[in-house]
Parts: sequence; C-alpha cells; structure tokens
Amino acid sequence: MAVLIGDDAPDFEAETTEGHIHFYDYIDGHWAVLFSHPKNFTPVCTTELGYTAKLKPDFDKRDVKVIGLSVDKLNDHAGWAADIKETQGTALNFPLIADTDGSIARKYDMIHPNASNSNTVRSVFVIGPDKKVKLKIEYPASTGRNFDEILRVIDSLQLTAKHAVSTPVNWQSGEDVIISGTVSDEQARQKYPSGWKAPKPYIRIIPQSALNN
Ligand code: BEZ
Repeated sequence: MAVLIGDDAPDFEAETTEGHIHFYDYIDGHWAVLFSHPKNFTPVCTTELGYTAKLKPDFDKRDVKVIGLSVDKLNDHAGWAADIKETQGTALNFPLIADTDGSIARKYDMIHPNASNSNTVRSVFVIGPDKKVKLKIEYPASTGRNFDEILRVIDSLQLTAKHAVSTPVNWQSGEDVIISGTVSDEQARQKYPSGWKAPKPYIRIIPQSALNN
C-alpha cells in the first residue's frame, strides 16, 4: 500500500550517522522532512546533501527536523560525508539513515522497481507534528531536487495548518493568500473586516498580513 498524503507516516527504527533512532521519538512534536537519495558517492546526491546541510538554519527556523536515507552502509556514509564537506563546503548536519536491507525504503515506496530494483528514487516526505504525511514528491535519480521549493512548500503547509487559507501558484511567504472555500462570506467578513479582493466570488484574496499570528 502506498503512503499517501493524509496517511500516518510509517514508524521505524534505524541506524544513522547520528546513532540509532526511533523515528517517532526523533520527530516527536516537530515537523520533519524524510528524503531518500539513490546512492552514496554519486554527483547529484552529493550536491543535494551539501545544499540541504547549508539550509539547516532555514529548517531550524521552521522547526523542521531533516533526515536523509539511502540503502548504503553506515561506514560508506561516514566516508562520503567527508567528500560532501570537501566539495560542497558544508558538513552533514542531519542524520543519514543506513537502510541496508531497504526495509524503510520499501515502507515508504522509495524503491520503484522499474527505475531500479535496489536503489531508491529521490523521494521527499514532509511529515507534520501529528506524524501524518503532508507532502510527497518523487524525482528520478538523474534530476536533483529543488530544496528551496521544499522550504516554500513547508511555509505553505505550516500557514495553511494554522489558518483557513490556501496559497496560490508560485506563492512565497509574505504574499497574498486565498480564503478557503470552507469559510462562508459571512464568516470571512468577521475574520477579515477590511474585506478581500474577489475577481470571482470563489477567488477571495487577502494579504498574508491580515492573518492573526
Ligand atoms: C547521482 O546522484 O548523480 C546519481 C545517483 C544514482 C543514479 C544516477 C545519478
């Protein structure tokens, strides 16, 4: 059964570069990003992990715990971490799971047999503090992901978890947002007394600054 948006994120125990972890204990009460990379000592993965390490302050600011996974061995992770530091300028600063038997990857459907029978694709799961899957994306091994986009999505997920709004195409934090369809005009008038722009009755736009923090 595929792990879908809204499902409970499967729990697991794992050996990582930062010791043994029990996933639910590790992420308890926080947002989390669990992402797979196909193989250690490969170029695209090296750039992705280096860039993600650079973004640590941005993930921390959003209370997001990042954890990577591949089906490689823990010893290989240690050697590769040195290469990441040397070539990307930032040392690994989040745990990397050594999922040598692929059991966690299979729980999360990170192995797509028609792409590779043994290595994962590039999966990303964003998991909420309630341990439910809020977002999943999958890229092939040949295409590096955009981790700035992952931060952008987390901004939207966190905002829309707190307020009855949604975020439009290419939205960036601080830009206008859309009042949810579940909010009646009467309720919206009470919440947003300054009103909203409505190019159509079903598109009700307010500045993000109209939301109470
Ligand atoms: C890479 O990270 O460059 C890569 C990994 C596995 C397959 C293809 C490319």
